Amino acid sequence: MASPPTILVFDSGLGGLTVLREIVSSRPDAHYVYVADDAFFPYGHHSEEQIIARVVPLVGELIAAHAPDLVVIACNTASTLVMAHLRSAYEVPFVGTVPAIKPACASSKTKRVSVLGTKGTVKREYTRKLIDDFAQGCEVTLVGSAELAALAERALSGNAVSDEDIAAEIAPCFVDHGNARTDTVVLACTHYPLLLDRLKNLAPWPVDWIDPAPAIARRVSDLLGGPVREADTAGAKMIFTSKRPHTLSKALMPFFGGRVPA
Ligand code: DGL
Repeated sequence: MASPPTILVFDSGLGGLTVLREIVSSRPDAHYVYVADDAFFPYGHHSEEQIIARVVPLVGELIAAHAPDLVVIACNTASTLVMAHLRSAYEVPFVGTVPAIKPACASSKTKRVSVLGTKGTVKREYTRKLIDDFAQGCEVTLVGSAELAALAERALSGNAVSDEDIAAEIAPCFVDHGNARTDTVVLACTHYPLLLDRLKNLAPWPVDWIDPAPAIARRVSDLLGGPVREADTAGAKMIFTSKRPHTLSKALMPFFGGRVPA
């Protein structure tokens, strides 16, 4: 039988685990290498030039080291910049993560949508273009959060994060025009679904939170092709570019479909 495919999932930190979780559940037969570029976290605080100069060669090194069949850039802050560079530099298929503006605007009833991402993502030309092309008559509010990704990292690492800190980051998403208020918020940073339950509790009114991870998982599975074989419980590797020893195995296991990452 052919050997299982290897999928490399890359993010600036732990946020891409929310994408990994969906991919593992649709392709339990694959081997997974998850790379957190924590030595350069948070990407949202770096310039466009710095991110391109960091990510393009680093992904090349990771491809050489792990020979993946497919690479997922599970980071909006990077994907809105580097996908064309990566595709022209390397042969392996890539899947990126970009703000889910089209489905959010298609489903909004009040025609008021907010896009919650890093300060980098909401400034991107790429994001503006998605709004120009797909707003479909919606008023789109861009909300660049300076701290939410770091708060999500802290929470997943078992540290206390206050409700006030989270509420302050999401408050600008909720726009009330009297006759119409925001009903849909795009989670345009892969870290944010890590806090989804708290986001729902702290929202001033209920909204639909759009997480693109299931759509990304479908795309990955389509590109991989072939039948889904038996679950492969061995193939799970976690890499931190800072080389910090990772003590998070228990917290990480659910994202790897129950496997213990090496
Ligand atoms: N997880 C990343 C994203 O989807 C960004 C977090 C950061 O490094 O600032 O945008």
